[in-house]
Amino acid sequence: MLPFCIFSFFTVALTAPVAERAAAPSVTIQNGTVVGSTSSGIDNFKGVPFAQPPTGTLRLKPPQTIAVPYETITATGTPTACPQFYFQANTTDIPDGVVGTLLDSPGVQAATVSGEDCLTLNVQRPSGTAANAGLPVVFWIYGGGFEFGSTQSYDATNLIQRSVSLGKPIVYVAVNYRLGGFGFLAGSDLASEGSTNLGLRDQRLGLEWVAENIAAFGGDPTKVTIWGESAGAISVFDQTIINGGDNTYKGKALFRGAIMDSGSVTPADPVTAPQAQAVYNSVVQAAGCSGSSERLACLRALPYEQYLAAANSVPAIFGYRAVDLAYLPRPDPGNSFLSLSPDIALNNGAYAKVPIINGDQQDEGTLFSLTQANITNNAELITYLASYFPSNPNAVSDVTQLVSYYPDKPLLGQPDGSPFNTGSLNNIYPEYKRLAAILGDITFTLTRRTYLSVVSTQVKAWSYLSTYLYGTPVLGTFHASDILIAYGDATDVPIPTQAVQQYYISFINSLDPNALGTPAPLITWPQWTTASPQLVNFAAAALSLTPDTFRNAAAQFLATHTASFRV
Ligand SMILES: *[C@@H]1O[C@H](CO)[C@@H](O)[C@H](O)[C@H]1NC(C)=O
Ligand SMILES: *[C@@H]1O[C@H](CO)[C@@H](O)[C@H](O)[C@H]1NC(C)=O
Ligand SMILES: *[C@@H]1O[C@H](CO)[C@@H](O)[C@H](O)[C@H]1NC(C)=O
Repeated sequence: MLPFCIFSFFTVALTAPVAERAAAPSVTIQNGTVVGSTSSGIDNFKGVPFAQPPTGTLRLKPPQTIAVPYETITATGTPTACPQFYFQANTTDIPDGVVGTLLDSPGVQAATVSGEDCLTLNVQRPSGTAANAGLPVVFWIYGGGFEFGSTQSYDATNLIQRSVSLGKPIVYVAVNYRLGGFGFLAGSDLASEGSTNLGLRDQRLGLEWVAENIAAFGGDPTKVTIWGESAGAISVFDQTIINGGDNTYKGKALFRGAIMDSGSVTPADPVTAPQAQAVYNSVVQAAGCSGSSERLACLRALPYEQYLAAANSVPAIFGYRAVDLAYLPRPDPGNSFLSLSPDIALNNGAYAKVPIINGDQQDEGTLFSLTQANITNNAELITYLASYFPSNPNAVSDVTQLVSYYPDKPLLGQPDGSPFNTGSLNNIYPEYKRLAAILGDITFTLTRRTYLSVVSTQVKAWSYLSTYLYGTPVLGTFHASDILIAYGDATDVPIPTQAVQQYYISFINSLDPNALGTPAPLITWPQWTTASPQLVNFAAAALSLTPDTFRNAAAQFLATHTASFRV
């Protein structure tokens, strides 16, 4: 079994060169003075605390603002990542070439330093930006299945340099938020205390920190775009529905635009649903706290390593259960913070009305389907997928209907599973391409279409599908491969990188991806509307438009059965 730390290459690619010896940039804010470093024309402030350490009695509690000023901090080291949870993949059955591709590919990566005292932000800006310069701000929420990821993996040097060369400089903020059993433990004990969806609360407090402090770094708090990938994109959507869609703080909007790369609405059962309670119970049991009359006090009193082991004792992403996540945002009906399942909030119109970009990779599901090789026929596929939806008494018949839209015996030239448009190639086990297609569609691609069909009646929306890795064996244009596009230096996939970065910088500045013009290789990106649902296809060689109508029978079924597929 290979360790599945597939993404460490990425650190090398994205970490900025060693700081040059220039006068250290320094910014004074409410809590103290933050001293950063300068490198490659960028000022970096890394690991700025925005909350009290969520440790001891604050473990499993909503984040608290800083109570004691810190005077001066040096924000130049590696910020501690929140506790991580990402192994359990058995790569024995994955072809060697595929593991090699993953080893050489961007995406999500192992954090080098992690620990509970992790609630910090990174701020990056063009070097020498003055306080109150009023630059637009992008606020990054990383992905990692709500189980892993950290600000360590994302350095925005290339993106900011590009914004400067386009004459539209931006300030970049990345937020750490609690993960796994530290950030998304649910169950009735935490619900009755009001301590649910802690990771989302961390992100929210980070946004409030931006509202309070970003002007001192030269950012404009009225021009904030929230941006995320995967679980980060799902978080971005959730930020639009928090507090019933009221995104204001002290009377002003915390953000005015949203970019969601691979993720949007994730319909979920409540924090007290049996499957959520079961995760809580098994963590409590693994922690040795079952017999305690004060279970939460018992969990909070445990040494870090012991609580970490208990929190990580349940199934992880990249294991057999894949996107059937043990930890994720769940509605808490007793708490106004996130009271409704995302699909219900959307249909009620209870979301912040801000322009959006939301798109997908062509093969979102391949990365999550590598380890289920024992699913060999239609019946096993149905049993497996139905188990994702334990609160649906008709899960088997609903899933039976869903899988019927995906041909069981792929024939050359027919819709053939994911990686798409590869005929009978790449099917590493009998149900692989089918499972990859379905997991990708229900978690990301077709859910996006449902989301857009509702939201686009209220806000401006743009959408895309990325295909630039078409031809990559087994994986295709896989989930999270867009990180190198967004953050890269355009050497690997130059045309999509150039285009995506310019569109995003344009959106962050003007809420319109076309506002900076669309010189080749860019094309005019049409708004997504129900009358004309169009995607920009980010292919390796050129951009083009493609109608967002593929797999429409499955899409229609999913759009009309959202409540059947809550996790
Ligand atoms: C620290 O800053 C936050 C705003 O980011 C503020 O709410 C809090 O009161 C400050 N704490 C102190 C001790 O200055
Ligand atoms: C990994 O999978 C292989 C083949 O399915 C199996 O033989 C092996 O026992 C598994 N290893 C672990 C550690 O589960
Ligand atoms: C496949 O393996 C998983 C975990 O290793 C097991 O839980 C499941 O029952 C197996 N499924 C089939 C169809 O054999």
